[in-house]
Amino acid sequence: MQTEVLSVNPSEPEPDVIARAAKVLDQGGLVAFPTETVYGLGARAFDPVAVAKIFAAKGRPANNPLIVHFAAPPFDASSSDSFWPAAAQRLAARFWPGPLTLVLPKPPGVPVIVTAGGSTWAVRMPDHAVTYALLSAAGPLAAPSANVSTAVSPTTAEHVLSSLRGKIDLILDGGPCPGGIESTVLDLTSSPPCVLRPGPILPSELSAVIGHVTASEIRLSGEHGPLPSPGTSIRHYAPRATLECYRDPAETSARVNQLAKSDARVRWLRCSPLARIVLGAEQIQMSQDAPGYAAQLYGALHDADRHGADYVILDLPPDDEEWLAVRDRLRRAATVWKNTVER
Ligand code: TXA
Ligand code: MG
Repeated sequence: MQTEVLSVNPSEPEPDVIARAAKVLDQGGLVAFPTETVYGLGARAFDPVAVAKIFAAKGRPANNPLIVHFAAPPFDASSSDSFWPAAAQRLAARFWPGPLTLVLPKPPGVPVIVTAGGSTWAVRMPDHAVTYALLSAAGPLAAPSANVSTAVSPTTAEHVLSSLRGKIDLILDGGPCPGGIESTVLDLTSSPPCVLRPGPILPSELSAVIGHVTASEIRLSGEHGPLPSPGTSIRHYAPRATLECYRDPAETSARVNQLAKSDARVRWLRCSPLARIVLGAEQIQMSQDAPGYAAQLYGALHDADRHGADYVILDLPPDDEEWLAVRDRLRRAATVWKNTVER
């Protein structure tokens, strides 16, 4: 299959480009498109044959359900409480369009392939003019991130092309995604509601609207200590290069220095201003604030792979809540995670 790439204006998408993409989707094809978080790989959500192609193109396990994307909330305040609880209405009113995915009881009619056979579905309304135009033209789309399974999510059309070329019909190139990290996933079917994946919308922001929320255990274990062993981590979002994360800036510089003296190609994503400069290592200065860092992170990891880096070394950002999503992704991608300072 030939993968076509079409440029699209990210703030004022050209109607003919959107019409072309909608036609591909209507015919059961796959289209990658930008959102405010990362690029998604869409198929019409109510076409199980088309949705099956997403799993095939990504090599995604059939037990991993997909998010359904909408141009407008699928329900409103007058809807049945069982499919659209009051908390969903309040959260949608506050955060949609935006990077929040809600897990809700699955209504009849949603194909089982979308929910991986489960009794819930995940829904979100993205905040991006291209996504909005495409969803308005083509209807709801099931869309995971547009990368092969377990790899780093794409934040540019080039990232999508390098991982899915020849496997999908069309990529809409609307430039880099502004957010750079996947949406917050909140399960509203558990009590209290539970953050399954931390993202741009923080737990405290959710609590402010609906009261107490918890965070999924797996996502947070290891946040306050080294991982039990790399083999037990859920390796995900990982670059090809070996990723090592250190809390102590002195340890980071020492490790970079050691690698720079060997034959290894090393990239250092600097966050802490305290670490020493090391000669012989490529150094990328990362943003000091969480949203800026998130916007840069996946691009920096893709870049390291493109340049054949053997190692990516980075200083762990602070423990604060606003860094939760970045730390979650790093922890899943890391081979070495050392969150302690030995003195
Ligand atoms: O920002 C995003 O959410 C991006 C853009 C494209 O919208 N999408 C994305 O999709 O990250 P994906 O498939 O890469 O990640 C979706 C996550 C997975 O961890 C999946 O297991 C979870 O959401 N998920 C989907 N449906 C679910 C459900 N019914 N119950 C629990 N988790 C669900
Ligand atoms: Mg993904």
